[in-house]
Amino acid sequence: MNFVDMIIKKREGGKLSKEEIAFFVKGVTDGSLPDYQISSFLMAAFLKGMDTEETACLTMEMAHSGGMFDLSSVEGFKVDKHSTGGVADTTTLVLAPLVASVGVPVVKMSGRGLGFSGGTIDKLESIPGFRVDVSEEEALGFAKAGNIVLMSQTENLTPADKKLYALRDVTGTVDSIPLIAASIMSKKIAAGADGIVLDVKCGSGAFMKDLESAEKLATTMVEMGRHVGRKVTAVISGMDQPLGMNIGNSLEVMEAIHVLKGEVGGDLLEVSLILGANMLLLAGRVKTEAEGKALLLEQIKNGEGLKKFTELLRQQGGDIGIIEDFSLLPLSPAVLSVKAEKNGYLTHMDTALIGRAAQETGAGRAYKEQPLDFGAGIVMKKRLGDAITAGEEMAVIHSQTEQKCQSAASYIQQAITIGEKPEPLPPLILRIIS
Ligand code: URA
Repeated sequence: MNFVDMIIKKREGGKLSKEEIAFFVKGVTDGSLPDYQISSFLMAAFLKGMDTEETACLTMEMAHSGGMFDLSSVEGFKVDKHSTGGVADTTTLVLAPLVASVGVPVVKMSGRGLGFSGGTIDKLESIPGFRVDVSEEEALGFAKAGNIVLMSQTENLTPADKKLYALRDVTGTVDSIPLIAASIMSKKIAAGADGIVLDVKCGSGAFMKDLESAEKLATTMVEMGRHVGRKVTAVISGMDQPLGMNIGNSLEVMEAIHVLKGEVGGDLLEVSLILGANMLLLAGRVKTEAEGKALLLEQIKNGEGLKKFTELLRQQGGDIGIIEDFSLLPLSPAVLSVKAEKNGYLTHMDTALIGRAAQETGAGRAYKEQPLDFGAGIVMKKRLGDAITAGEEMAVIHSQTEQKCQSAASYIQQAITIGEKPEPLPPLILRIIS
C-alpha cells in the first residue's frame, strides 16, 4: 500500500477502507511510517474528518495496537472515567477515592497534560514519592486489595495512541472529533473496565467549544463503547471557566484534598459528584443519580473518601504527610498577584488562555519532553458573575521567576473580561448521554 496515496485520498475528502486504516495504525506502531507522513495524514484527517465507520475502525485498530488489560480477576463491575481535557479539572482525584470507598473498583489509567489542559499523571507525580508507573500485575493486586489504582498507561497499552497523541500535540491536530474519540476510546477499551464515564468538556477551556461539537464527540464515543459491549455514559460539562480554583499540579492536589475534607464545595465538587454518581449508576450500586450523589457526599462527611485517598497514596509510595501538611508539596517561590484594572463584573473568561497562562508558569508543557515545575500554577480568586473593583485581586501566580509570573499575568489580563453588568452564568452540566 502506498501511504502517500492514502494521504491524498483523505486530503481530497475520501473514505478510507478498513485495510487502509489498519495499514496506517500498523505503520505508526511499528515505526515504519515516518513522523512527517503521519503528521500530514493527521492534518488531512483533521481538515476532512472521518465518518463513524472510519472512526470505529481507527478506534479498534488503535485499541489492539498493543496488549489489552484483563481485569476479569478483579471482582465486581469495574469503572473508569476520562475527561476530554480542561483547566483546573481535578475531578479524578476527588471522585476516584469516593467511588472506591463505596465498594466499586476504580482502575484508571491516566494521561499527562495536553496543550492547555492538565493531566492527572502530572498532578499525581507532584506528590513526593508517588509512583504512577505500576505494572499490570501490581495494579490488579491494588484493585483487589483496596478497589483503587491510579496509574499511567502501561508501556504495552495502545502504543499507536502514544505516538499519535504526542504528534497531534505539536502539529495543531488535537481538537478533531474523530481523532479525540479514537484516542480516548481506544485507551479505555484496552484498559479493560466494564463501564466508562466520559466527561466531555464544552466551552472556552475545552477542545470542543460549542454544544453541537461536544454532543457529536460524546455520541461518537458512546457509540464506540456500545460497539464493543462496554457501558458508557457521557456527561457534557461546562468549561467556560476553570473548574476548580487552583490550576497547576501540586496546587490541584491541594484543592482536591480540601474537597475530600469537606472544606470547599463549588463546581469542582459538583462535577465530581455527578461523574461519580454516574459511575455508581453504571455499576448498579445505586438506582438514581441523586442517590449516588448523596452517597458520595456522605463519604466526604464521614471521612471515608479521604481515608481511601490516603490508602491510595500509601499503596503507591506517596507521602501521606501532605494530607495534613501542604508545605510537603512543592510550591514555586516567585509569587505575583494579578489585579483587576477596572470595576465591574466578570462576564467572560477565555479559559484556554488561562490554561496557557498556567503553561507559562511552568505547570504545563510547551513541547513533549519539557520537564514540569510541579509547584507552579495559578490560584483563581474570582468566578464568572462575581463583582470586582479596580485593584482587587483576580488571581495569584506561582512560578520559578518573576519574569514567568509577569508573562502569565499578561495572559490572565487578556483572558478575563470585566463588563459593566453581570451576565447569565453558563450551565455547569449541559447534557448526559448514555
Ligand atoms: N484526551 C485524550 O486522551 N486524547 C485526546 O485526543 C484528547 C484528550
